Amino acid sequence: MKPRERDPDLVALLEKISEVRGFCGNSYKEGCLRRRIAVRMRARGVHTYEQYAQVLDGDADEYDRLLDTITINVTKFFRNRETWQRLEAEVLPDLWTTREGRVRCWSAGCASGEEPYTLAILFLELVRALPHAPRGGASIDATDLDRTSLAHAAEGVYRPAAFDEMPAALVSRYVRGDDPRHLAPEVKEMVRFHQHDLLRSPPPHPPYDLVMCRNVVIYFDRPTQEQLFRRFVDALHHGGYLVLGKVETLVGEVRQELELVDARERIYRRP
Ligand SMILES: C[S@@+](CC[C@H](N)C(=O)[O-])C[C@H]1O[C@@H](n2cnc3c(N)ncnc32)[C@H](O)[C@@H]1O
Repeated sequence: MKPRERDPDLVALLEKISEVRGFCGNSYKEGCLRRRIAVRMRARGVHTYEQYAQVLDGDADEYDRLLDTITINVTKFFRNRETWQRLEAEVLPDLWTTREGRVRCWSAGCASGEEPYTLAILFLELVRALPHAPRGGASIDATDLDRTSLAHAAEGVYRPAAFDEMPAALVSRYVRGDDPRHLAPEVKEMVRFHQHDLLRSPPPHPPYDLVMCRNVVIYFDRPTQEQLFRRFVDALHHGGYLVLGKVETLVGEVRQELELVDARERIYRRP
């Protein structure tokens, strides 16, 4: 929905947040925004957007709490195992062969880093399984809007629950310590984190062989989703893959430009 069709008080609040913090709330789904802002309004004991704007005026830290609440950053290593199984069995070996061991990936909306690190682990496993594979290596650009999540990601230190879905053999190979747990340096080395707003900036260093953007576009309205999918496809090499979240749907003209690799796992290939 476009801003002019929205509640004027909500529009005024979003404009304020955009001016102060550069956050493009207008591209997010309205229902989603309202629910998230309501969480903070309840926490601060106010009932109208106008009152909440006054809370923001009096407490600059409240912007951080609000943005944290809007940009939900739940994630895990090997989140949706079946997607990673398909990547491991087919997509990554294909890229590794066709790109002769130099594969460039982008994890967009990476939150605290579990997704790009999972990808790095699977590339390390690929090289272990193919000892005569061409050397070179995969590299992963991992981006997010949220600086706090990125700082956590760059540390590579997690609570044990983050690894619940990760196969035990991989945990013992790539994770050190009990609580907190530290990622092995060879995993961390493959990933570069950057702060990046998908709604404001083009893809960081295209072209890529693999673009993963999972559980991010679901928060955006449809025109924004279409624009982002266009950018993702333009950022891909021919033969490269796009992976979305399991509950996300590819919309817009790019549907005609991609081959469906796995409908359930939302994996597409640019021919
Ligand atoms: C639910 S997490 C997804 C994490 C990971 N991709 C996964 O599926 O497990 C959504 C992430 O999108 C990020 N995000 C939201 N709006 C964004 C924007 N405009 N630009 C970049 N990242 C954004 C949030 O900060 C959050 O870390």
